[in-house]
This record gives sequence, C-alpha cells and structure tokens, in this order.
Amino acid sequence: MTTAQTQPTSAVSTDPLALIDVDHVRFYVGNAKQAAYFYAHTFGFRIDQIADLTTGSRDEADYLLTQGNIRMLLTTPLTKDHPAAEELKRYGDGVKEVALTVNDAQAAYDQAIANGAECAQAPRTLEDERGTVTVASIKIYGRVIHTFVSRTGEYAYDKLRAGGMFMPTFQKIDSPLNKYNEENPCGLMYCDHFVGNVEDGKMNHWVKWYEDVMGFKMFKHFDDADISTEYSALMSKVMASGNNLIKMPINEPAEGLKKSQIQEYLEWHDMTPGVQHLAFRTDDELKTVAELRRRGVDFLNMPDTYYELVWDRVNKMLTDHGHEAVKEDHQRVRDLGILVDADDEGYLLQLFTKPLQDRPTFFIEIICRRGSQSFGKGNFKALFESLELEQERRGNL
Ligand code: FE2
Repeated sequence: MTTAQTQPTSAVSTDPLALIDVDHVRFYVGNAKQAAYFYAHTFGFRIDQIADLTTGSRDEADYLLTQGNIRMLLTTPLTKDHPAAEELKRYGDGVKEVALTVNDAQAAYDQAIANGAECAQAPRTLEDERGTVTVASIKIYGRVIHTFVSRTGEYAYDKLRAGGMFMPTFQKIDSPLNKYNEENPCGLMYCDHFVGNVEDGKMNHWVKWYEDVMGFKMFKHFDDADISTEYSALMSKVMASGNNLIKMPINEPAEGLKKSQIQEYLEWHDMTPGVQHLAFRTDDELKTVAELRRRGVDFLNMPDTYYELVWDRVNKMLTDHGHEAVKEDHQRVRDLGILVDADDEGYLLQLFTKPLQDRPTFFIEIICRRGSQSFGKGNFKALFESLELEQERRGNL
C-alpha cells in the first residue's frame, strides 16, 4: 500500500475550475418513468421535477430525483435518433453525466479545453423568465461526460439546493411516494465519491487527464497487492478536486487467476469504460441500511467469517492510533451485513448493492465516515470474494 498524503488546496475563487458542488448525476435509462419509481421506492428519493412531452420536451423525458444534497437526473430518449437510444443499446442503463456546479460554466469549459479536454457539447444557455442555466460538457472515459453548470435567478445554486427549480422546461410534480419518503427517511446526504472502471493499462492515462485538465490531485493509491484475491484483482487510484469536494477513484483490471470484476464490467459494457459505482454518504449507516433493506434493496452478502475477524482488525487499528473503538453496536452491524474498515484517521462503515440492472455493471455504495477518509481497502479482499461468488453464479468467472 502506498498512500499519497492528502493534499487539500484551498479553492481559489479566480480559478474557473474551482468546483462548488456536484450539480447533478444524470443516468441514461430505458424507461425513466419506471426507474424513477424504483429509486424513489427503494432508496427514498423524492420525485421532484419532470421535463417530458407534457412540459414541451419532445425528444427526451427527464425526472429529477432529490434526497439531501443529491440530485439524480433520469433521462430516457423519446425518439430513435436521440443519442441516448444508441448508448442504451450498447451499455444498458448507467451514468451518463457527472455535472459540476461552477461560478461560470463558459469559463470553466474554456479552461478545461485549454488544458486538453475534448468537447462533448459546446456552452449553451437555457433561459426563461425564471433565470438562466449555462451548461458546457467535456468528454471523459467511455460515454461519460463532465458538464459544468452555472446558474442565475430562480435557478441559482443556493435556491436549487433549497428545493428550487432545476432548469427551464422542468416542472414540479408530486408523487404519493414523496410523503411516504418524508415520513420514512433513508438518510442519504450527498455523493461521497464516483468510481470509474477503465481498460487495462488506462488508469494512469486518466489519472494524468484529471491532473492536467481538471487540476485534480491524487488522493490515495492502491495497488494490486492490496486489492486482490486468489482469482481477480484491480488497481485503483483516487483523484480529488483541489478542495477535496469531489473524489473519483479510477480502477483498472489487474492480473488474476480468474476474471477480474473490472473485466466483467467492461465485457458487459461493450468493452467501454464507465462509472462502476456511486457512493452516497449517510451519518447513520445502521439506520440507513436497515431502512434500505426494509425497502428491498439487494445488498452484497458478506461471508460469516468476515465478522469473526473484523473487530480485532479494526479496533486494534483504532486503539493503536489513539481513537476509540467502533461505537456502533457490533451485533447490529453484523445483523445488517455492514462492512467496517479503519485507518490511522478513524473508521468507516460501508455496504454495496448488487448491480441495479440485469447487466452486471452499475451499483451503489452506502458509506458513513467516522474520521477515515479512505475507501475501505481492508474490505476489498472480503468484498471481492463476495463479488466473485456473485460472478460465479452469473457464470462470468
Ligand atoms: Fe466506493
């Protein structure tokens, strides 16, 4: 394990690439109306706004789902010529866009292009009587793009965050599920990190891209000695924005006796890199996971042997570094199948869903940090053994 020191650099307001927030994450899905119901029912998202035929959107339907400071946008094409139609055929449902709020989207885009980015969509301003939203997109790996977003008037970032309007053509809608979700909160607060799977030998290319184009720094580094099982392995480097607001681990497959889970992802994703998982942050892992399990979220199962070893490993690490042991009830953690890991700064609790669509591609992680800023490397071995069990069941090992 080589751990690069965290190097937070304060965001300088004159830097056009100073990121304010994750504006939204857009998924391309085959049927946004049904996907909205799924994410609202299973993960407790509010179905907040819609742009579709009824609001004047003729070529796509968009559902804005919200929870805490998470804005998930589900887009489905309404015509065969929409670019999403071809992408859905090739990759299935998945993340299309990680959008980043900035002060000036045009300036951020110009800077990124000057730094070597490739245009995905030139800057354009959407406008109506409520205000403006300027968007400009650059390509990253595979089908994924980063979109810079800047907002004015009723669409301003602070208003959006407080539940305001998303963009022109969107209208507020209501769903009976919204009231239910308010009464039964899942506790998801914001996006902790996004993980990309890239092809063998491409990880360092994308590390350099994030450094050169986005001004990101390497946050943590894992090599295949850390993240390997008897059968499969990966390498991962974590890139973070200057203010550590956004963290993007990048995985590539590594040599193993059997097929790497990263390789499996690529094979079911038209051999194209993409977002493997999104981690949502909670400050009460037990409450969140209990509620999500009650709602039917399908989580990975850990072998029982995991809990025979984990407490000694984690609590020793914590006490060795002058921290208190894990405060959550150990039996409850085990009953809920939650994973625990610790480093010199503290500990974290995390759990991963199974893939959320029939293709073994995208999944979600639920993470709670108690001081630790890492990503659960101590769990990687246990996790991958569990993942491989699932892979074997799918006949992909
Ligand atoms: Fe993760």
